[in-house]
This record gives sequence, structure tokens and C-alpha cells, in this order.
Amino acid sequence: MAATGSASIAGDADADGRGGRGVVAGAADAESRGAADGAGLGSEARSGGAVGAGGALSTDALGRGVVELCMRILRRYALPDGVIEHSVKVAEVARFIAERLVERGEDVNLERVVAGALLHDVGKSPRHVRRGARNHAEASAEIVQAEGMPELAGIVARHILDSIISEEDYPRNWEEKVVFYADKIVTRRLVTVEERFMDLHERRADITDLLTASLPPTKALEAEIFAAAGLTWDDLASRFGGKWVVDRRS
Ligand SMILES: [Fe+2]
Repeated sequence: MAATGSASIAGDADADGRGGRGVVAGAADAESRGAADGAGLGSEARSGGAVGAGGALSTDALGRGVVELCMRILRRYALPDGVIEHSVKVAEVARFIAERLVERGEDVNLERVVAGALLHDVGKSPRHVRRGARNHAEASAEIVQAEGMPELAGIVARHILDSIISEEDYPRNWEEKVVFYADKIVTRRLVTVEERFMDLHERRADITDLLTASLPPTKALEAEIFAAAGLTWDDLASRFGGKWVVDRRS
């Protein structure tokens, strides 16, 4: 049983046999809640519930305590603070976009977007022993499956650049598309797609060809999302500018 004084979500997970593999201290829970709430993913995400015809996640474990559960998993898998900070910010941006899509009548499951965004990089865990995963995205899919959240496997598996240039692995639905895109405009702050790719070009000479090939379809996906959500870059920049945007690009 997870040693936590908070919410029933740990109990729910335990009841389903998913929470038994690790013990999370109360202090870690408090820290996790603080990080999530600080990023605006607290009560709103918990009360938001699932939206759209896809309905709620099929497990109680991803009910209203989705944020706490995901944060607990990130801690249990020992993700570095920087990765957790990035993941929380990706989740906040992804939720903002997903909510705009919902307002425009699109079928988007907000819980899956938030949970998938929070866990998209969990496969970078130093504690996870891969069972055949070729990259951290597939490792993330292994983990969410092991944690009883197979609904998130596609979202986390298709968030990397390899997917956007693949017919087979291209993001299939709004949940997968929004998390992919949000990850491309968030480092530890909001950045443009161009800025993100430029940074990657500088740091990752080993994936130059992949970067070159994946920029156009990433921009095309951005255009698709903006059109469907009725969003512009300025909307994103003004929404997040007060909190952690440093640069505002046109
Ligand atoms: Fe990421």
C-alpha cells in the first residue's frame, strides 16, 4: 500500500493492484501536489473529468485524482526534477489547447491529455528496465501499461519526432496530437516550434536528418491544431507569458 495521507486515489490504485509496487512518502506527495497545483493542474484538472464521446478513462485510477496519481508515478520512477517540471508544463499547455478544442466541439478526452502529458517522458526513468522499447517513448508506453493505464500508451508512444514522419506511428487522435505538439513548444518554458528545433539542432547533431524531416509536418500539425481550436501563437504566449514564458515570438 502506498503510504500516503492524501486522497483515495492511492487506495483506488492499490485496490486494483496497480499501486503496490512502490511506496510514496507523504512528503513526496505534498511536493508533487504543490508542483501540479503550481502549474494550474490541481483542482481544475481533477474536477474537469473526461470530455467527449470517448468518455472517462476506463479505470477508477484515472478519475479525479489523475494529477496526484501521475505525479506519484513520476516520483516513484525517480524522474529528475527537470523532467518533472517539463512534464507539468507540457500538461498545462496541452490542457489549455485541449479545452479550446472541446469548446469548438471537438471530441477530446481531457483526462487522457493531462495524464498522457504528465507521463509522456516517464520512460526516461533510471529505474525502468526496458522490455524491448527502442526509445524513451516506447519505454513510457511500457510503464503506463504496467501501471494499469493502457489508454495512455498511444499518447506517450507517439510523442516523439519519429512519429510525425511515420505513417504507422503518426498521432492518431486529438489526445495524441495535442500532447505531441505541446511537447514541441515546451522545454522548461514556452518556445516556438522553430526555437525548439533550433535548440535541438545545436544539441543533437546525431538527429539532424530527423529534425529536418520532422519540422514541416510538425508545423502542419500546429496549423491543424490552431485552426481546429481557434488558437494563435499569441493566445498561447499571452496565456502562459505571465508565468514562465521568457521569449514571445511571432
Ligand atoms: Fe517531453
